[in-house]
Amino acid sequence: MAVALIVAAGRGERLGSGRPKALVTLAGRPMLEWSVAALRAVAAIERIIVALPPGELDAAPPEAEAVEGGDVRSQSVREALCASGGGDPVVVHDAARPLAPPELFERALDELLRSGADAAIAAARVSDTIKEAGEDGLTVARTLERRRLWAVQTPQVFRRAALERAFASASDELLATATDDALLIERLGGTVRIVESRPENIKVTTPADLHVAELLLAERVR
Ligand code: CTP
Ligand code: MG
Repeated sequence: MAVALIVAAGRGERLGSGRPKALVTLAGRPMLEWSVAALRAVAAIERIIVALPPGELDAAPPEAEAVEGGDVRSQSVREALCASGGGDPVVVHDAARPLAPPELFERALDELLRSGADAAIAAARVSDTIKEAGEDGLTVARTLERRRLWAVQTPQVFRRAALERAFASASDELLATATDDALLIERLGGTVRIVESRPENIKVTTPADLHVAELLLAERVR
């Protein structure tokens, strides 16, 4: 059976609400609880582990088990993975993406098993044209081919053996800079499949994002 890891141990500095972002109230409940509710609706998921900031372990809802997160996101994933026993596949999700629907988790799990890949990740097509700057950071070096570009989200789902191997071989330095977990698989030559998701599965980072998430969730509740 699958196990889900929700990382919720960030400080939410860019949101600036003075408390951990995952615990900020969003459309009537703590942000974290939207993800827990979505995961509870996925039949294949047996356990939910939440990585929380030190001193906030009581904030885990009763349906989830709490562990203390680390200094950086990847370390929080590693702590939750260690606490998760033997469940396979492993679903990793950011509490900062409260809009991910149950069907997205289901499609990611289906694709992982159908394809035989090491990982399957939610991602949205990009609507902007993306240019890459050169060494000075502000002179355009080239324009990327948009139809091949994807904005990566969570959930990201993994075969447990592949994810454990990837973490075992990653240095602390790599873990400090990795912005997603699939990267750790890619660098070992593993196969990562894309599962198309909607741009509405936003990551709440700034106060403007919180406002958008509030509107989208209020609409869904209604
Ligand atoms: N996260 C975590 N442990 C950390 C850092 C981040 O579990 N040490 C989690 C966050 O709680 C969030 C997800 O990783 O669900 C994505 O991180 P991000 O959006 O950067 O959230 P924060 O780190 O909380 O925000 P900020 O960077 O603005 O402080
Ligand atoms: Mg952060």
